[in-house]
Amino acid sequence: MKLIMIGESSVGKTCCMNRFVSDQFSEVTKSTVGVGMVSKEIEVNGIKVKLQIWDTAGQERFATLSSNYFRNAMGGVIMFDVSNRQSFENISNWIDACNKIEEKRVLVLAGNKVDLSERVITKEEGEARAKEFGLKYFEVSAKTGAGINEMFETLTKEIVTLPKVEAQNNNEEVSINLASVDKETSKKGKGGCC
Ligand code: GTP
Repeated sequence: MKLIMIGESSVGKTCCMNRFVSDQFSEVTKSTVGVGMVSKEIEVNGIKVKLQIWDTAGQERFATLSSNYFRNAMGGVIMFDVSNRQSFENISNWIDACNKIEEKRVLVLAGNKVDLSERVITKEEGEARAKEFGLKYFEVSAKTGAGINEMFETLTKEIVTLPKVEAQNNNEEVSINLASVDKETSKKGKGGCC
Protein backbone atom coordinates (compact mmCIF):
# COMPACT_ATOMS: atom_id res chain seq x y z
CA MET A 1 0.00 0.00 0.00
CA LYS A 2 1.52 3.26 -1.09
CA LEU A 3 1.16 6.33 1.13
CA ILE A 4 2.55 9.76 0.33
CA MET A 5 3.79 12.59 2.51
CA ILE A 6 2.85 16.06 1.29
CA GLY A 7 3.61 19.55 2.61
CA GLU A 8 5.96 22.52 2.67
CA SER A 9 9.67 22.17 3.14
CA SER A 10 10.78 21.66 6.77
CA VAL A 11 7.37 20.84 8.22
CA GLY A 12 8.85 17.48 9.30
CA LYS A 13 7.63 14.99 6.69
CA THR A 14 10.85 12.98 6.70
CA CYS A 15 11.13 13.05 10.49
CA CYS A 16 7.54 11.81 10.97
CA MET A 17 8.15 9.01 8.52
CA ASN A 18 11.40 8.05 10.27
CA ARG A 19 9.75 8.16 13.68
CA PHE A 20 7.06 5.79 12.46
CA VAL A 21 9.34 3.39 10.62
CA SER A 22 12.47 3.34 12.83
CA ASP A 23 11.37 5.18 15.99
CA GLN A 24 14.16 7.69 15.50
CA PHE A 25 14.37 11.47 15.44
CA SER A 26 17.10 13.84 14.37
CA GLU A 27 17.29 17.58 15.13
CA VAL A 28 19.51 18.07 12.11
CA THR A 29 18.17 16.93 8.78
CA LYS A 30 18.95 17.60 5.17
CA SER A 31 16.22 18.74 2.85
CA THR A 32 14.92 15.79 0.89
CA VAL A 33 16.23 15.70 -2.63
CA GLY A 34 14.04 13.96 -5.15
CA VAL A 35 11.85 11.23 -3.74
CA GLY A 36 12.56 8.85 -0.86
CA MET A 37 10.68 5.75 0.16
CA VAL A 38 10.63 3.59 3.27
CA SER A 39 8.50 0.62 4.12
CA LYS A 40 7.00 -0.94 7.20
CA GLU A 41 4.65 -3.80 7.81
CA ILE A 42 1.80 -3.26 10.24
CA GLU A 43 -1.28 -5.19 11.19
CA VAL A 44 -4.69 -3.57 11.05
CA ASN A 45 -7.98 -5.38 11.60
CA GLY A 46 -6.07 -8.67 11.60
CA ILE A 47 -4.60 -8.00 8.16
CA LYS A 48 -0.87 -7.60 7.57
CA VAL A 49 -0.27 -4.56 5.42
CA LYS A 50 3.07 -3.57 3.96
CA LEU A 51 3.18 0.19 3.78
CA GLN A 52 5.40 1.98 1.31
CA ILE A 53 5.70 5.57 2.47
CA TRP A 54 6.93 8.04 -0.11
CA ASP A 55 8.46 11.35 0.79
CA THR A 56 9.36 14.23 -1.46
CA ALA A 57 11.03 17.59 -1.04
CA GLY A 58 8.55 20.22 0.10
CA GLN A 59 10.60 22.64 -1.96
CA GLU A 60 8.99 21.15 -5.03
CA ARG A 61 6.47 23.51 -6.49
CA PHE A 62 2.92 22.19 -6.27
CA ALA A 63 2.58 22.32 -10.01
CA THR A 64 5.74 20.44 -10.78
CA LEU A 65 5.31 17.48 -8.45
CA SER A 66 5.62 14.49 -10.67
CA SER A 67 2.43 12.59 -11.35
CA ASN A 68 4.49 9.46 -10.63
CA TYR A 69 4.64 10.55 -7.05
CA PHE A 70 0.87 10.46 -6.72
CA ARG A 71 0.28 7.46 -8.95
CA ASN A 72 -1.23 4.46 -7.13
CA ALA A 73 -1.03 6.19 -3.77
CA MET A 74 -3.94 5.02 -1.67
CA GLY A 75 -3.46 7.46 1.12
CA GLY A 76 -1.64 10.65 1.95
CA VAL A 77 -0.61 12.76 4.90
CA ILE A 78 -0.90 16.50 4.27
CA MET A 79 1.40 18.04 6.81
CA PHE A 80 1.98 21.51 8.19
CA ASP A 81 4.13 22.82 11.02
CA VAL A 82 2.09 24.26 13.92
CA SER A 83 4.82 26.87 14.46
CA ASN A 84 4.74 28.05 10.84
CA ARG A 85 1.61 29.80 9.61
CA GLN A 86 2.79 29.86 6.00
CA SER A 87 2.87 26.06 5.92
CA PHE A 88 -0.70 26.03 7.23
CA GLU A 89 -1.93 28.59 4.68
CA ASN A 90 -0.55 26.48 1.84
CA ILE A 91 -2.56 23.35 2.68
CA SER A 92 -5.15 24.07 0.01
CA ASN A 93 -2.43 24.27 -2.67
CA TRP A 94 -1.19 20.81 -1.75
CA ILE A 95 -4.72 19.44 -1.79
CA ASP A 96 -5.27 21.03 -5.22
CA ALA A 97 -2.05 19.45 -6.48
CA CYS A 98 -3.31 16.12 -5.22
CA ASN A 99 -6.72 16.60 -6.83
CA LYS A 100 -5.17 17.15 -10.24
CA ILE A 101 -4.34 13.48 -10.40
CA GLU A 102 -7.49 11.58 -11.19
CA GLU A 103 -7.28 8.94 -8.51
CA LYS A 104 -9.10 8.40 -5.28
CA ARG A 105 -7.15 8.31 -2.10
CA VAL A 106 -7.75 8.84 1.58
CA LEU A 107 -6.06 11.92 2.97
CA VAL A 108 -5.49 13.10 6.51
CA LEU A 109 -4.26 16.47 7.78
CA ALA A 110 -1.43 16.55 10.31
CA GLY A 111 -0.12 19.44 12.39
CA ASN A 112 3.45 18.51 13.31
CA LYS A 113 5.86 19.90 15.98
CA VAL A 114 3.22 20.14 18.71
CA ASP A 115 6.08 19.77 21.21
CA LEU A 116 7.08 23.39 20.49
CA SER A 117 5.83 26.04 22.91
CA GLU A 118 5.97 28.67 20.16
CA ARG A 119 3.15 27.17 18.13
CA VAL A 120 1.06 29.68 16.18
CA ILE A 121 -1.66 27.36 14.87
CA THR A 122 -4.04 26.18 17.57
CA LYS A 123 -5.56 22.73 17.69
CA GLU A 124 -8.95 24.33 17.03
CA GLU A 125 -7.66 26.03 13.85
CA GLY A 126 -6.21 22.76 12.63
CA GLU A 127 -9.45 20.92 13.33
CA ALA A 128 -11.50 23.61 11.59
CA ARG A 129 -9.31 23.49 8.47
CA ALA A 130 -9.49 19.71 8.37
CA LYS A 131 -13.27 19.84 8.66
CA GLU A 132 -13.39 22.35 5.79
CA PHE A 133 -11.71 19.79 3.54
CA GLY A 134 -13.50 16.79 5.03
CA LEU A 135 -10.29 15.33 6.43
CA LYS A 136 -9.40 13.75 9.75
CA TYR A 137 -6.98 15.85 11.80
CA PHE A 138 -4.00 14.65 13.83
CA GLU A 139 -1.69 16.63 16.12
CA VAL A 140 1.71 14.99 15.99
CA SER A 141 5.32 15.39 17.00
CA ALA A 142 8.12 13.53 15.29
CA LYS A 143 10.33 14.65 18.16
CA THR A 144 8.33 13.06 20.98
CA GLY A 145 6.52 10.51 18.83
CA ALA A 146 3.13 11.82 19.97
CA GLY A 147 0.30 10.90 17.62
CA ILE A 148 2.52 9.40 14.91
CA ASN A 149 1.55 5.72 15.16
CA GLU A 150 -2.10 6.57 15.62
CA MET A 151 -2.06 8.73 12.51
CA PHE A 152 -0.51 6.11 10.20
CA GLU A 153 -2.58 3.31 11.68
CA THR A 154 -5.85 5.19 11.38
CA LEU A 155 -5.06 6.14 7.80
CA THR A 156 -4.24 2.54 6.94
CA LYS A 157 -7.35 1.28 8.70
CA GLU A 158 -9.53 3.73 6.76
CA ILE A 159 -8.10 2.44 3.51
CA VAL A 160 -8.41 -1.27 4.27
CA THR A 161 -11.96 -0.86 5.51
CA LEU A 162 -13.19 0.82 2.36
CA PRO A 163 -15.95 -1.55 1.17
CA LYS A 164 -14.27 -2.79 -2.02
CA VAL A 165 -10.99 -3.31 -0.22
CA GLU A 166 -12.69 -5.41 2.46
CA ALA A 167 -14.21 -7.59 -0.21
CA GLN A 168 -10.77 -8.15 -1.69
CA ASN A 169 -9.34 -8.92 1.74
CA ASN A 170 -11.69 -11.86 1.92
CA ASN A 171 -9.82 -13.30 -1.05
CA GLU A 172 -6.65 -13.45 1.07
CA GLU A 173 -4.38 -11.64 -1.35
CA VAL A 174 -4.72 -7.97 -0.50
CA SER A 175 -4.19 -6.22 -3.76
CA ILE A 176 -6.01 -2.99 -3.35
CA ASN A 177 -7.17 -0.99 -6.29
CA LEU A 178 -8.72 2.21 -5.14
CA ALA A 179 -9.41 3.26 -8.68
CA SER A 180 -12.33 0.92 -8.45
CA VAL A 181 -13.63 2.26 -5.18
CA ASP A 182 -16.73 4.27 -5.64
CA LYS A 183 -15.91 7.94 -5.14
CA GLU A 184 -19.03 8.65 -3.10
CA THR A 185 -18.30 5.77 -0.77
CA SER A 186 -14.83 7.00 0.01
CA LYS A 187 -16.03 10.58 0.44
CA LYS A 188 -18.37 9.50 3.19
CA GLY A 189 -15.41 8.43 5.33
CA LYS A 190 -14.07 11.09 7.67
CA GLY A 191 -10.72 10.86 5.94
CA GLY A 192 -12.06 12.39 2.77
CA CYS A 193 -10.76 11.64 -0.62
CA CYS A 194 -9.54 13.32 -3.74
P1 GTP B 1 11.88 18.78 3.16
O1 GTP B 1 12.65 17.53 2.94
O2 GTP B 1 12.69 20.01 2.85
O3 GTP B 1 10.58 18.81 2.45
O4 GTP B 1 11.57 18.90 4.76
P2 GTP B 1 10.69 17.93 5.68
O5 GTP B 1 9.28 18.37 5.67
O6 GTP B 1 10.95 16.51 5.32
O7 GTP B 1 11.27 18.25 7.14
P3 GTP B 1 12.31 17.40 8.00
O8 GTP B 1 11.72 16.13 8.44
O9 GTP B 1 13.61 17.36 7.27
O10 GTP B 1 12.44 18.34 9.31
C1 GTP B 1 12.85 19.71 9.19
C2 GTP B 1 13.34 20.21 10.55
O11 GTP B 1 12.28 20.17 11.52
C3 GTP B 1 14.48 19.39 11.15
O12 GTP B 1 15.41 20.27 11.77
C4 GTP B 1 13.81 18.52 12.21
O13 GTP B 1 14.65 18.18 13.28
C5 GTP B 1 12.67 19.45 12.68
N1 GTP B 1 11.51 18.71 13.15
C6 GTP B 1 10.82 17.76 12.48
N2 GTP B 1 9.80 17.29 13.20
C7 GTP B 1 9.85 17.96 14.39
C8 GTP B 1 9.05 17.92 15.58
O14 GTP B 1 8.08 17.17 15.73
N3 GTP B 1 9.39 18.80 16.59
C9 GTP B 1 10.45 19.66 16.47
N4 GTP B 1 10.69 20.47 17.50
N5 GTP B 1 11.22 19.71 15.38
C10 GTP B 1 10.92 18.87 14.34
